Amino acid sequence: MAQLRSYIVGNWKMNGSAADVTVLQAIADAAAGHDGVDVGICPPATLIAAFASAAGPVQIGAQDCHAKASGAHTGNLSAAMIKAAGATYSIIGHSERRADQGESDADVNAKAQALQAAGMGAILCVGETLDERDSGNAIPIVTAQLAASLPDSADGDWLSVAYEPVWAIGTGRVPVAGDIAAMHAALRATLVERLGEAGKGVRILYGGSVNAGNAAEILALPDVGGALVGGASLKAESFVPIIEAALR
Ligand code: 13P
Repeated sequence: MAQLRSYIVGNWKMNGSAADVTVLQAIADAAAGHDGVDVGICPPATLIAAFASAAGPVQIGAQDCHAKASGAHTGNLSAAMIKAAGATYSIIGHSERRADQGESDADVNAKAQALQAAGMGAILCVGETLDERDSGNAIPIVTAQLAASLPDSADGDWLSVAYEPVWAIGTGRVPVAGDIAAMHAALRATLVERLGEAGKGVRILYGGSVNAGNAAEILALPDVGGALVGGASLKAESFVPIIEAALR
């Protein structure tokens, strides 16, 4: 299969204000000059509409969506709602939501199906805690998470996977290259086992303390199809070099 296009996505989490549209514009200018890579930004939901109208080639996504189409779910947004605001995909199953909101693999699977039904994309996050890494069982734990969170209907046209070790998020700690490569190979095997040929077309992003200094090495690893970037995506000066690293 031909090499998949790199996919570099910024997850702004609960950060940013309307004034930061200037950051988005600077990222959009850089992305416009680099058409070999897909670039996305997932701002807080309140900024999706304003960002979508200033995004240029940058794909605007949400950070979560509810599995149901409507109903008594105070504070939540459906896939159709985030789509109407201008998002074309959503992150789902981020470890911060799995921890803070108690989201299960079954919840994440249902959210993925809701996004597909709405004609949207999904970035499905999986990853182990430090205790799970130290136990030596990170690979079986994370591949089981993926298997349970992944709908049978998944394919690379609408779904990507993000491997984000919980202990690497926002800590400045990154797994050694061999551990990232081993996990991505195991996730690829799980995708192919479940989805057959379609499993080869799903991009697997790495996330957790990616920055301008380490992006090139991480993105060059086999089966690393891009990066899901938190802190370093909040400023164009730190995010654009990661986009550029994906082109090498
Ligand atoms: P950091 O890049 O800040 O470690 O965050 C990673 C992440 O959680 C992206 O979803």
